[in-house]
Amino acid sequence: MSVTVIVLAAGVGKRMKSALPKVMHPLLGVTMLDLVLRAAEPLEASDTLVVVGHRGDEVETHLREIGSTAHAVWQAEQRGTGNAVRTAVEQMPGELSDVLVVINGDTPLIRPETLQELVRTHVSTAAAATVLTAELDDPTGYGRIVRGPGGEVEGVVEHRDTTPEQRAVREVNAGVYVFSGDLIIPALNKMTTTNDQGEELLTEVLGLLAAAGHRVATVTLSDHFEALGCNDRIELAALRAHLRDRVNAAWMRAGVSIVDPNTTWIDVTVTLTADAVVEPNTHLRGDTEIGARAVVGPDTTLIDVRVGEGAEVVRTHAVGAVVGAGAHVGPFAYLRPGTVLHHDSKVGTFVEVKNSEVGAGTKIPHLSYVGDATIGEQSNIGAANVVVNYDGVAKHRTVIGSHVRTGSDTMLVAPVTVGDGAYTAAGSVITKDVPPGALGVGRAPQRNVEGWVARRRPGTAAAAAAEAAQVTSGEDDSEGAATASDTSAE
Ligand code: UD1
Ligand code: CA
Repeated sequence: MSVTVIVLAAGVGKRMKSALPKVMHPLLGVTMLDLVLRAAEPLEASDTLVVVGHRGDEVETHLREIGSTAHAVWQAEQRGTGNAVRTAVEQMPGELSDVLVVINGDTPLIRPETLQELVRTHVSTAAAATVLTAELDDPTGYGRIVRGPGGEVEGVVEHRDTTPEQRAVREVNAGVYVFSGDLIIPALNKMTTTNDQGEELLTEVLGLLAAAGHRVATVTLSDHFEALGCNDRIELAALRAHLRDRVNAAWMRAGVSIVDPNTTWIDVTVTLTADAVVEPNTHLRGDTEIGARAVVGPDTTLIDVRVGEGAEVVRTHAVGAVVGAGAHVGPFAYLRPGTVLHHDSKVGTFVEVKNSEVGAGTKIPHLSYVGDATIGEQSNIGAANVVVNYDGVAKHRTVIGSHVRTGSDTMLVAPVTVGDGAYTAAGSVITKDVPPGALGVGRAPQRNVEGWVARRRPGTAAAAAAEAAQVTSGEDDSEGAATASDTSAE
């Protein structure tokens, strides 16, 4: 049996009040159109056509960007859903397929299983058309399914064309249909424009087929969310939240712990591994992958980030980064594109890393900026280090070896190299390479101006404290006090 899929995506989507075509609004990382096309994939259609019109060139570009094999069909003027299907059918090369599956492009929560069931029902009941329906508590705005005395479908009436009696019907048209290829053309040719919108409505085709004595079958959804169209941003938010619940439930079933599913937003493009833990208020976006036993969150956003097994990423914002197995990131870390943290490394609190490689076991625990640097293994970057990578014109690279210990407040002025096993003294501005095993010192020697407070700040609390301290001095033997913590903070 040959299948053609037609997705209707030419409408303006007026109520979205957007410069973006409606079907290109995203839910969890992919557009409505992409979601519909993904749902249709298992039908293995010989052809997938997307009817475009309003800002159709943008939709066409989008199809290419998402690597879809669907091709765009132009509907020059948006004269209704029936007109859209007729336009697509007229532009189809060769013979019509056995069945045509028509899906409104603004029905993003439709599931692949539902489309497959719709086709199965169509075939097994030998119907001319099969329509997906749902019972809605509030059917306002939807086409109502009108049934005859025996329960058979007589047609679909648009909300604005309903009689009061029809308006009370809660069974609605979801905007997803299967048509038999040999019967659709004559029915499309009989469409009128005698409705409140003055357009050619695909819904009229169902009534025409029924009136001609053909069977119109239905599949009624148990999850009515699948039927919901998206016409404004309020509906978009509701659909997105429902999709979030669906995605979270699927990952929990697959063995991922999601501590607070209501505040966890995982794009449909993300992959997680069993025994990963996602803490509350976490957003996993784009091409992100989370390994087994990794813990991400709370309060974390990861965009295109790979997190290895057993890594921990806490209160972090990261984009385009790789976090190796067993690495620790955060709290309050910012990883920017090109960051690669090797296994068991650490990027700690108030640390920003950009386009840098951090070797296995290396730690950058506190208050630092590392940009355009390569750091070897088992090194320790002291508190408040800055890799000074930008001279105002160009960016330069810094290379730090393995087993290096930089002192707190070291400024590494790129391009510069610190050799394996080298140290830098706290407060140093390192402008020259430090050879392996050397201590780089780049700071002014300290000088104490004795009695300065008593002379220049007399009468202050400081002066009084100093005087009191001088009276008791001599009792205090301060041997070795200034040496031990010269290079690092813990
Ligand atoms: C449509 C159905 C309604 C159903 C509802 C389900 C018709 C006449 N009505 O109403 O019975 O309950 O969907 O959500 O079909 N489009 C085109 N070309 C056009 C007009 C529309 O491609 O000329 C596309 C739109 O971009 C949209 C889809 O068709 O993706 C549906 O159109 P829309 O105007 O949203 O139809 P509804 O009024 O929601
Ligand atoms: Ca709609």
